Amino acid sequence: GITRHYRFNINMQNVTRLCHTKSIVTVNGQFPGPPIVAREGDRLVINVVNHVQNNITIHWHGIRQLQSGWADGPAYIAQCPIQSGQTYAYNFTIVGQRGTLWWHAHISWLRSTLYGPIIILPKRGVPYPFPQPYKEVPLIFGEWWNADTEAVISQALQTGGGPNVSDAYTINGLPGLLYNCSAKDTFKLSVKPGKTYLLRLINAALNDELFFSIANHTLTTVDVDALYVKPFETDTIIITPGQTTNVLLKTKPYHPDATFLMMARPYVTGNGTFDNSTVAGILEYHHPKPSTSIKKLPLLKPTLPALRDSSFVTNFTNKLKSLANAQYPANVPKKVDKHFFFTVGLGTNPCPKNHTCQGPTNTTMFAASINNVSFVMPTKALLQAHFLSNSNGVLTSELPSSPLMAFNYTGTPPNNTNVIDGTKVVVLQYNTSVELVMQSTSILGAESHPLHLHGFNFFVVGQGSGNFNPKKDPAKYNLVDPVERNTVGVPAGGWVAIRFLADNPGVWFMHCHLEVHTSWGLKTAWVVQDGNLPNQKLPPPPSDYPKC
Ligand code: C2O
Repeated sequence: GITRHYRFNINMQNVTRLCHTKSIVTVNGQFPGPPIVAREGDRLVINVVNHVQNNITIHWHGIRQLQSGWADGPAYIAQCPIQSGQTYAYNFTIVGQRGTLWWHAHISWLRSTLYGPIIILPKRGVPYPFPQPYKEVPLIFGEWWNADTEAVISQALQTGGGPNVSDAYTINGLPGLLYNCSAKDTFKLSVKPGKTYLLRLINAALNDELFFSIANHTLTTVDVDALYVKPFETDTIIITPGQTTNVLLKTKPYHPDATFLMMARPYVTGNGTFDNSTVAGILEYHHPKPSTSIKKLPLLKPTLPALRDSSFVTNFTNKLKSLANAQYPANVPKKVDKHFFFTVGLGTNPCPKNHTCQGPTNTTMFAASINNVSFVMPTKALLQAHFLSNSNGVLTSELPSSPLMAFNYTGTPPNNTNVIDGTKVVVLQYNTSVELVMQSTSILGAESHPLHLHGFNFFVVGQGSGNFNPKKDPAKYNLVDPVERNTVGVPAGGWVAIRFLADNPGVWFMHCHLEVHTSWGLKTAWVVQDGNLPNQKLPPPPSDYPKC
C-alpha cells in the first residue's frame, strides 16, 4: 500500500436548505464532507485543523484501527478533543477491508453536519467478486435540522425530554422535491441504459433507520460494512445509522419513457416522536430526446414498506451472509472464552428536586442503559488512562455481566425503570473470544437499537424475537457463513448474538448509533489488554495527541 495525505480544515459555512440558512461546522467548507478514497492496505494520514470554536474529534467509522486506537476518534474514549486552533494527524492503515465506510465527528451531535464517505477499493489487480461496475456513486443519507443541533441536544438533556426531531432527511445533503422549498435541492443520478452502477449507501442520519428503494429497479446487495456478502436481489434495503451497504443497480437495456424517484424514509418501532418525512432523489436516463421532453416524462415512485414493517427487516437481515469462501473466509470463533448478556434499552433517571421534567412523566428524565447502567462520559480519554495505567478507578469499574433488574419482554415490565449512572467498562485479556447476546428490553416500548462496536468486526451468529433462550437458541446459531459487520440492529423486542475475537489491544467504544440514545447513556467501552508479543501491544500515542 501507499500513504495518502488529506487535510481537513474544520470551518464554518453558510448552507441553505428548506429556505433556511444556517452556519454549520464543515470540513473544507463542504456539506456533506469530502470523500476519502483509498485502497485496501493503504496508510492514511489525515490532518485535522480546527478553525472553529467547538471542540472536534473525527471517527473513521468501521476502520478496524489495528493497534492504532489513538486514531479512532470518539471524544473522551480514544482521545481528548482537538481544541480550537489545534491540529491532530489521524494516522492509520486499512487492513482486510474493502467496500464503503464513512467518517463523522464523534463529539456531542456535531456529526449532524460533519460526515463523509470512505471509499475503500480492493488492492490493485484484485477484482470485485461481482461484475465490474461501469460507475460508482456514494449515496449518503443524513438528517437536516433548521435549528442548531447542539442546542437541540443540550435542551433535551436539560429538560429530560425527547429532542426536537429533524426537518428533513437528505441524500448527499439534499432533501429533495417532496419537501417545501426544496425542489432545486434534489439529488439527481444520470445513468446510461444497459450499465451496472455500484451505489455505496451510507446511513449518516442521527436517529433513524431508513428504508431505501428506487422505482421500477432491482438492487443487488453485495457488501455491508466493507465486507462482501453473498449477492441477493431486493427492491428495498433497510439500513441503520452507522451501517453501509453496497448495491449494484442494473439499468434498463433501453431508454424508458419515465424518470424514477429513489426514496428513503424511516423504519420506526418505538412510540416516541420522530421525523416521518421522505427524502427523494431522481434517477434519470441520458435521453436521446431533447431535455424539454425529459421533463414531461412521468415520474414513477417506489413503494416502501410500512413504517413498522419489522417482518421486512427480519427477512432482509436474514438474507445477509458472508461469502465464506477460500478467498474471503469467515473466521467465526468456534469456541467461546467469555459469554456476555447485555440488556439494551431505555429507562429513566429521577428528575432533580423542585424541577419539572419532560421525561415519560414530569418527575423523570429519559435515560438509556446497558444492563441498567447509564454510561457517564469521563473527562479524560480512557485510552490514555489505560495506556498510562493511571485509571483513577475508571478502568477498574466493571460493567455487570447481566442486567441489574429483571426484565421480561413478553411479561409485565418492571415498575422500577431507574438506571444507575457510572463509567463502567468491560475488561478483556488479549485474544479472548467473545460471545455477546444483546436483548432489547421493553421497559419503555419495544425499540430497535443499532449497536456499533469500534475496533472490530463481529459475526452476527443469531437473532430472534422475544426473550433470548440460553437453552434453545444457541443450537440454531449460524457458525458457517454469518454476516460480518460493525453495526447491528438489535431487533425491537428481540435479541441478537454476536461473536468476535479480541485481537486489538486498546479501549473500544460500543454504543447505540441512534445519537439520542448515545446521549442518554446507551454506551460502554471494551478494554482489551496487551498480549505478550511485541506485535500484540498498543504502541505509545503520537506526539501531537491532543491534551485535555
Ligand atoms: Cu459511527 Cu462511535 O460511531
